[in-house]
Amino acid sequence: MKYTSLGRGGVRVSSIGLGFWQAGSRLWGFRDSRVYDAVKLGLEYAVEEGINFLDTAEVYGGGLSEKVLGEAVRGLGRDNFVVASKVAGYRVTSGSIVRGVEGVNRRLGFTVDLIQLHWPPPYPWPLCWAVRGLEEAVSRGLAHYYGFSNFSTKLLEGALKCFRRVEPVSNQVQYSLAFRTPELKLAPFMKSRGLTLIAWSPLAKGALTGLKAPTSPAQRGDKVFSRASRDERLQEALRLVAEKLEASRAQVALAWLIAKGAIPIPGFRDPGRVKEYAGAASLNMGEAEVGFLDSVSGEYVKAWGDDYGELLSLRLTPAILQRIAITLMGGI
Ligand SMILES: NC(=O)c1ccc[n+]([C@@H]2O[C@H](COP(=O)([O-])OP(=O)(O)OC[C@H]3O[C@@H](n4cnc5c(N)ncnc54)[C@H](OP(=O)(O)O)[C@@H]3O)[C@@H](O)[C@H]2O)c1
Repeated sequence: MKYTSLGRGGVRVSSIGLGFWQAGSRLWGFRDSRVYDAVKLGLEYAVEEGINFLDTAEVYGGGLSEKVLGEAVRGLGRDNFVVASKVAGYRVTSGSIVRGVEGVNRRLGFTVDLIQLHWPPPYPWPLCWAVRGLEEAVSRGLAHYYGFSNFSTKLLEGALKCFRRVEPVSNQVQYSLAFRTPELKLAPFMKSRGLTLIAWSPLAKGALTGLKAPTSPAQRGDKVFSRASRDERLQEALRLVAEKLEASRAQVALAWLIAKGAIPIPGFRDPGRVKEYAGAASLNMGEAEVGFLDSVSGEYVKAWGDDYGELLSLRLTPAILQRIAITLMGGI
């Protein structure tokens, strides 16, 4: 396994992480007695392979993902892992964010390493209130680091003007061969400020592995999944590179992100995937392969917009409505 650091000189994390949205999520049809065993086995493989970076959130399965992950991490040894979670973007005051991080730690059963704001605060709440809440959580020892998620370049610029003592380390955004918008402005800006880019949906929810038909509502409702799964040219390119490197398509898609300087956090229901994902870190992907994949996926640099968006529909939904909707759904 190869390792990198979070932000400028932060904690050492594997160049590939694991996402735990699936664990306990109805949208992934994975909220039953199999979840704990799948998470535990996935983490056992992660330890064997040297993957130490894990990502969850308070809204995943309404807290179930954090509970299951926390129990499995404690069972396998807390020191083996760097755990990231997220407080929901409907937490718009500093006090609510601090209470949110306390809840995260209660469910995990330990102090979270990286706390992220899952999505930007809805209008008209000031961005600096949220940033101060995250800083406050770190200052009080409730988290070791903080970062953002789904922040556009403009919001990130704004957020970087807010902090007083503790610098953020990361921004978690959608990034894959089928969604390359971050390359336009966001990724270069983040690099210039020493912020780590954590890539969510790095496999376009499985579409980049060759999966043709959705197997869950989460995939069914995803435009990036449906376009990538039908893109024969991209699928053929992944197949060719995979054959050349004696790897799988998933490994090629993940190795491409690592080559771009991002940390991909692929998710899973089948724990066997963890071993496959880990293999991406040691894949010998040269400039020729990266250049070829760049060219066949060129349309995805601008296909989804000219700059990474700030989830406008969520920003226009009042915080209280967001909270009620997510609570009634039992999380996402
Ligand atoms: N910050 C945010 O707003 C945000 C948003 C979305 C996601 N995330 C994070 O990012 C993580 C990963 O993103 P994601 O879950 O959206 O998608 P992803 O990692 O792109 O795709 C994961 C899915 O790919 C499927 N897959 C992998 N290899 C496969 C194969 N060979 N054949 C068929 N299917 C295969 C897996 O299926 P199985 O389930 O069958 O194993 C898995 O559920 C999440 O878990 C979460 O932690 C964050």
